Amino acid sequence: MRSLISILDFSKEELDQLIATAKDIIANPEKYWDCCKHKKLATLFFEPSTRTRLSFEAAMMELGGSVLGFSQASSSSASKGESMADTAKILSCYVDIMAIRHPREGAPFVASRNATVPVINAGDGGHQHPTQTLADLLTISRELGRLDNLTIGFCGDLKYGRTVHSLIEAMSRYTGIKFVLISPEELKLPNYVRYNTLEKHRIPYEVTTSLEDALPNLDVLYMTRIQQERFDDLDEYNRLKDSYVLNTEKMKLAKKDMCVLHPLPRVNEISVAVDDDPRAAYFRQALNGKYMRMALILKLLEEAKDPQKEAISTNDLVFDRPCTNPKCICQVEQELRPTARITDPKEGVLRCIFCEKKV
Ligand code: NCD
Repeated sequence: MRSLISILDFSKEELDQLIATAKDIIANPEKYWDCCKHKKLATLFFEPSTRTRLSFEAAMMELGGSVLGFSQASSSSASKGESMADTAKILSCYVDIMAIRHPREGAPFVASRNATVPVINAGDGGHQHPTQTLADLLTISRELGRLDNLTIGFCGDLKYGRTVHSLIEAMSRYTGIKFVLISPEELKLPNYVRYNTLEKHRIPYEVTTSLEDALPNLDVLYMTRIQQERFDDLDEYNRLKDSYVLNTEKMKLAKKDMCVLHPLPRVNEISVAVDDDPRAAYFRQALNGKYMRMALILKLLEEAKDPQKEAISTNDLVFDRPCTNPKCICQVEQELRPTARITDPKEGVLRCIFCEKKV
């Protein structure tokens, strides 16, 4: 069964096809009004959300389908100790497709291995957020007219910012891409993204702590919130929370046609005055998220008619390798057998299949 757990589950051609479908939905919405008639989407949100959950729900409604689900873990049987695997099996009895957001890294992946309908990762801990990436890709394409030959700056919390991890992986599929990674030392990009994507595919990137230095060269600036809920140490959060603030003064350093993205919600990292700058694309980006989620639902429901494709190949798995990431789903779901795979044959590095941390 085809699911979307990591953005790398889709080829570049598939991403381009989704963008084309979304643009067609924008141009001809009435063509799609009945496409999902009698189909049901479940939104299972074990973590807070405004845009992702409601844009999924709006997307399904605009396709003529219906929606059910919950918006907090406390109103589901997870609060009674039900496992992700059981939840996925049960929901498969009721709906045609499900979107899951969960604080545990790897939870939607576990669901996809147990569900008999497509599962969409709507954000898992500090790991991945592939449907935000779909929104980001459509936004860049609509704002700048291309997805190749771009210098993209990521600024803020690159460690816990799951949207950053997924977008870097997706953009690495395009040509002429260069990244500038702007963060405090403590919030640098995780190694699995750095080694498995940037180093492996020899994508040029720079690392800096200075937004001002980076700004003049960027085609896209992707701002992020410092992810308070992922910090174990609140003092560290308080020390880092005001690291970067994009204001109208700093915007003067940027190219005339740079575009500013932010997955939102914003806290204080973009001052409200920047909203009036035509280069501020983050509210348009939120709208694009709905169109891309429509395109995604259509694709996955179409492919579900032919449930051949496996969510994961079991060829190169190494079993019983304990994961040390306290936020991994395998720490709480006891029946999950700790499993790893070699992701970098040169170094022989083994990574947990659920959260991708080194084991
Ligand atoms: C992001 C998320 O949940 O990861 N928001 C979103 O889905 N648009 C970013 C964030 O919470 O900072």
